[in-house]
Amino acid sequence: MKNRSVTVSAPGKIHLLGEHSVVYGKPALLTAINKRLTVTLSPSKTNTGFTLEGQEKTIAAFQNVIEETIKDMYKLKTIPPYTAFVSSNIPLGYGLGSSAALSAAATAALLTFLDIPWDEKSVFNISYLGEKHFHGNPSGGDLATVIEGGLLYFRKEFEFLKSFSPLPFATTIENFLIIDSGKPTESTKEMVAKVGDLEKNFPKQIAEIFNKQEVLTKQLVLAFKESDEQNVMTILKQGEENLEKLGVVSKKSQGIIRSIEKLGGASKISGAGGYQNGSGMLLAYHSDPEVIYKFAKINNLNVEKIQIEKTGLRQENI
Ligand code: MEV
Repeated sequence: MKNRSVTVSAPGKIHLLGEHSVVYGKPALLTAINKRLTVTLSPSKTNTGFTLEGQEKTIAAFQNVIEETIKDMYKLKTIPPYTAFVSSNIPLGYGLGSSAALSAAATAALLTFLDIPWDEKSVFNISYLGEKHFHGNPSGGDLATVIEGGLLYFRKEFEFLKSFSPLPFATTIENFLIIDSGKPTESTKEMVAKVGDLEKNFPKQIAEIFNKQEVLTKQLVLAFKESDEQNVMTILKQGEENLEKLGVVSKKSQGIIRSIEKLGGASKISGAGGYQNGSGMLLAYHSDPEVIYKFAKINNLNVEKIQIEKTGLRQENI
């Protein structure tokens, strides 16, 4: 056990495309973004666990899952008491991968504290169970992205086989913005379950949508590789249309997205979405970001430029 503090951080993510269909074995294109969550874990006389403002209950249950998995995997009887502070500029519950970043960083910090050597794979395997706690039936795509960093092509082939490839393109597709459409009332778990119900009730129609998302996701990889801005926007637009058919985009968000399209840009939900009120952070692209900034200002919407973050999970002190 380390007798000093351990700090580990992980970035947030966005879904360029493939959210929801990725849960059903289709590919997703994701990227880590320049927002980070940091876990600082220190030995303590009393075990206070993880502290993240306003989230104590969720985190206590999540901590239990991670600890029990580590005890089981490494044949440990107990885990010495510790206290862990979580700080983050990834907004919680907006589709930017806050729970994946927390699962990965907390797992790596705890393993380091216990003097257990870890690599990306072992952190993925343990924190995937933490993600299950938050999401019920996660694809693992969010986690793979925040651990790996950069642009990532991900596919869950089976529950026991999740494959991904980093795409180190020197792309000039970089005018991405995120726009706050409001925090979804629904959790990711609920949104995944909602699509699950639809898939059960209308298997043919939903399979068709998933197939279309697969084709579009592959086309998007090529558009990125070729830095084809126009094509990126066309594909994002078509991808959004399909997400709307899945019922994961609220009327309010659809309104924002249609306005951006009219201004010559493209926009979509990124992640699980939300249908009653907000749908989380919308991803928006325009060859002239100023147009989106102006639109957001007039409509009183928070907007922010984001960048691809190359570094995934990172230990901040050795
Ligand atoms: C959530 O960020 C993305 C979903 O596709 C769920 C998942 O992949 O686990 C909706």
